[in-house]
Amino acid sequence: MNPILDLDFIDNRTPEQATAAPSCDTHVTKENNTGRSRKLYIESYGCAMNFSDSEIVSSIMFEQGFDTTADIAQADLVFLNTCSIREKAEQTVRNRLGQINHFKKKKPAMMVGILGCMAERLKKSLLEEEKIVDLVVGPDAYRDLPNLINEVDGGQKAVNVLLSREETYADINPIRLNSNGVSAFISIMRGCDNMCSFCVVPFTRGRERSRDAHSIVREAEALVAQGYKEVTLLGQNVDSYKWASEDGTESVNFAQLLEMVALLSPDLRVRFSTSHPKDITDEVLYTMKKYDNICKYIHLPAQSGNSRVLELMNRTYDRDWYINRVDAIRAILGEDCGISSDMIAGFCTETEEEHQDTLSLMDYVQYDYSYMFFYSERPGTLAARKLEDDIPLEVKKRRLDEIINKQRETSLARNKRDIGKVHKVLVEGPSKKSEDQLSGRNDQNKVVIFYKKHYKKGDYVNVLVHDCSVGTLFGEAVD
Ligand code: SAH
Ligand code: SF4
Ligand code: F3S
Repeated sequence: MNPILDLDFIDNRTPEQATAAPSCDTHVTKENNTGRSRKLYIESYGCAMNFSDSEIVSSIMFEQGFDTTADIAQADLVFLNTCSIREKAEQTVRNRLGQINHFKKKKPAMMVGILGCMAERLKKSLLEEEKIVDLVVGPDAYRDLPNLINEVDGGQKAVNVLLSREETYADINPIRLNSNGVSAFISIMRGCDNMCSFCVVPFTRGRERSRDAHSIVREAEALVAQGYKEVTLLGQNVDSYKWASEDGTESVNFAQLLEMVALLSPDLRVRFSTSHPKDITDEVLYTMKKYDNICKYIHLPAQSGNSRVLELMNRTYDRDWYINRVDAIRAILGEDCGISSDMIAGFCTETEEEHQDTLSLMDYVQYDYSYMFFYSERPGTLAARKLEDDIPLEVKKRRLDEIINKQRETSLARNKRDIGKVHKVLVEGPSKKSEDQLSGRNDQNKVVIFYKKHYKKGDYVNVLVHDCSVGTLFGEAVD
C-alpha cells in the first residue's frame, strides 16, 4: 500500500495492496551504503504493514552488518517480504523465486529468505516446496533474524514462525528506506482479532496488540525533526487501538492517540488506515474535525452492500449500520470528506440481487475510490471450512467488472466536484509523466498534478484544480 498513491488504481492495483492503507506496486528497498561487509536486498509485497516491517527488518540487519542494496545481483542476502491475502499474491512470489534462482546459480553463496505472511502461513513446508529458500521467518520473529542468519551461515536451513501476543517492535528505529522523505508509515498495532470469514490475516499476523502510545509519539516526533510532513498510522483495525500503561494509570484509545500525534506540529499531516465500520466512533470523527492537520479521508471497507453476505463474511455489521457510519461522517466532517472502500465480488452464495446491493451501496456512499477484488478462497479460513466457493469464476469477474465500472463513475463524479476549488497539496516529487510538473496529494488523499514553478518536494502548495480524470486532479499553483 503506498506511500506514493497513484489513483489510476483501477488499472494497476492488485487487491492485496489495499490493506491497511493504499499502496503502490512491489517495493524494493533503496540503497544504503555505509561500507558494511554484506549486502541485503529486500522486496516487499502486499500491504503497508509489510512495507513498514521491511524498514524494521532493515534496521535489525543493519546492526548485524548488512547494508541494503537495490541491485539484487550485488546481494549476499535476498529477502522477499510476502503476502498471502489471495492465491495470486502467493503465486507472484513463487514466480519471483524462479527468477531469483538465476541469480543464485551465478552466486551460490547468496542466501534467500521468505518473510511475512506467506512464511507464517506455509511455515517449514516452504523449505520443501521451494528448494532455493534458506530461511522462513514470520512477522513476529524478526528479532531472531541474527540467530537465524548465523544458522544459515553454518550451513543449515532456518525457520522461526512463532507468533507473539506482545511483540510490537516498539523500540526498533525503522530505517526509512521505502520513503520519499516526505511521508512515512508508523505501525501502531499488529495482528487482528476480527476473524472475517474470508481473511487469512488473523492466521498470518496473530492476535491484535497495540503499541505503546509514547513510543508512537516519539517516532512521529523524530520524523518531524527529520523534515517529514506526513505520517500514516497503520493497523488492520485502527479504531480498536487501545493501550494501557503497565501500572494501569494511563490508557489511550485511538481518538486520543490521533490527538497526541496531531498536536506535535500543525505542519504535520496525520493519516490513518484501516478503519473498521463496526468500530469507528464519533469521538474519532470529532477529533478529525478538531484538527486541521488530521486529513479528512477515511478508508472504510464495506466488502459488500448486502446484510446476509456481510453476516456470512462475519463482518459484524449490516448494511444499515454501515450507512449510519457514513451518514455520521458526512454529518460531522461534511460532504467533502474522502471515503474509500474495499469490495469483494462473488463471495460464497452471493446472489445477483445481493450483488446489486453492493452497487446500490456504492451509489449511496459515492466513494472517492475503492479497491475491488473477486473472492479468492484461502485455506484454513472460516469460509474455506464452512462455505462453498460456489460462484463460477466468470460470474465473479463479471460482477467485479460491474463494481469497477460503478466506481469509475463515482470517482469521476467526486473528482468533478473538486474542479474550481483550491486544494492544499503536499508535494511528493516530480510527476511520472513530466519533470516540469509536480505530484502531491490533497487532504482527501487524491493525487494532484500541477506545473512546478518554484515549488519542490515537501512544500505545501495551494492548487486551483481545473481538470480531472478518473484517478487524478490537474491544476495550477496559486501563490
Ligand atoms: N483490515 C482491513 C483489510 C485487510 S485485507 C479491513 O478489515 O478492511 C485488504 C482487503 O483484501 C480486504 O478489505 C478485502 O477486501 C480483501 N480480501 C481479503 N481477503 C480476501 C479474499 N480471500 N479474497 C478476495 N479479497 C480479499
Ligand atoms: Fe482481515 Fe477482517 Fe482483520 Fe481486516 S478486519 S484484517 S478483513 S480479519
Ligand atoms: Fe498484508 Fe498481505 Fe499480510 S495484505 S497483512 S501482507 S496477507
